[in-house]
Amino acid sequence: MGEMNKKVNVISCIFLLSILSFNAQSQTIGVEAKAPAYKLPEMLISSKGEKIQTPEDWINIRRPEIITLFGEYVYGRFPGTCLEKKFETVKIDSNALCGKAVQKNIVACFIKDGDTIPMELLIFIPAHATKPVPLFVGMNFYGNQSILPDPGIPVTKSYVLNNPEYHIFNHTATEESRGADSSSWPVERILERGYGLATFCYDDLDPDFDDGFKNGIHSLLDYSEKNDSNELSSISAWAYGLTTAMDYFETDERINKNQIVVIGHSRLGKAALWAGAIDQRFAMVISNNSGCGGAALSRRIAGETVKDINTRFPHWFCKNFHDFNDKENEIPVDQHMLIGLIAPRPVYVGSAEQDEWADPYGEFLSLYHAGPAYTLFGLEILEKDTLPEINKPLWTGKMGYHIRTGGHAITRFDWEKYLDFADYHFDRKDK
Ligand code: GCU
Repeated sequence: MGEMNKKVNVISCIFLLSILSFNAQSQTIGVEAKAPAYKLPEMLISSKGEKIQTPEDWINIRRPEIITLFGEYVYGRFPGTCLEKKFETVKIDSNALCGKAVQKNIVACFIKDGDTIPMELLIFIPAHATKPVPLFVGMNFYGNQSILPDPGIPVTKSYVLNNPEYHIFNHTATEESRGADSSSWPVERILERGYGLATFCYDDLDPDFDDGFKNGIHSLLDYSEKNDSNELSSISAWAYGLTTAMDYFETDERINKNQIVVIGHSRLGKAALWAGAIDQRFAMVISNNSGCGGAALSRRIAGETVKDINTRFPHWFCKNFHDFNDKENEIPVDQHMLIGLIAPRPVYVGSAEQDEWADPYGEFLSLYHAGPAYTLFGLEILEKDTLPEINKPLWTGKMGYHIRTGGHAITRFDWEKYLDFADYHFDRKDK
């Protein structure tokens, strides 16, 4: 009997220990436990070693320094003002989506020495809006026609051109692909909540394959052959598209140019963060599952690493970034500084529990370590470096974060939380 009791005790001990260790594992979100020790570069020490103590010093000294570092070592130079831009309205439909929206199709043209690259911008404005509306802008992966099964949306030409053989979830990149990615784009819900939505296909700026930076808008830029280590990357080209869309919004009286939210999922979340960091006209920045080179800290070496991403996607970052394969600790910046550049504007980072490749905890930690930039403006910051509960958004000051159940995607849950956050910060409680 005594022996039997001992056995039962040993078995229950083992059972208890395994429950405890399972809990510990789930709290550490997979790869966290393996992250090596690291020291992040200082957000508030200038290159001359001065301590940045005021918003003015941040704006005039440290912010430009950090932008230059990201441009030089991570994303590559931005084209600046060397391309001429023109906007052409090709269609306005005041009775789109069964009367729910005004649809506008704008072509933004990038022009250099007579050559033109078009970017097809699709905009929906809630039909019954009585004043300029706040608006979300985000790029799409598969052409404008993929966001809704609506025959009134022109099929994006660059997508068809660059992906003739490609199948979007079993649909060829043609008429057949209408609405193929509609689960990522709850258009009617966004309109119902009083927001406009604008989108364009990232292929318009730069098709997503490595061709040595020659296609897309690269074809219009004459960077010197000898000094191309910090050349505009694909992510910078995509981000440049977002800032160009912003140029257009400033001219459209149906849009509230002070309430534009830039949003992106995954690789397009990396571009949304970079665009939002550089261009302060964006009033709010949202990263959804953007991972390595986006919201996740590189130095954690958890999930996708710098070497992983540079190997699989050599065109996403500038050539200098490849020097940091397996040398994350030598990058002069880390991704918390990208989020710091958004201060004092609202920023929201969305992660997914099963998206370990994007290192959810590393995404959260970037937001946490962006704190010092927000503190300079007297804003509240995240108190603790521990993840909030799953599916329970955490908002502090201008920072928002959630980790939801499920995997790598932008879901209805994510959109609802982003819309709630925008309502709150745009003071739209009684809309
Ligand atoms: C790959 C890549 C990620 C990226 C993702 C996406 O998984 O490794 O860095 O975020 O694609 O864009 O879907």
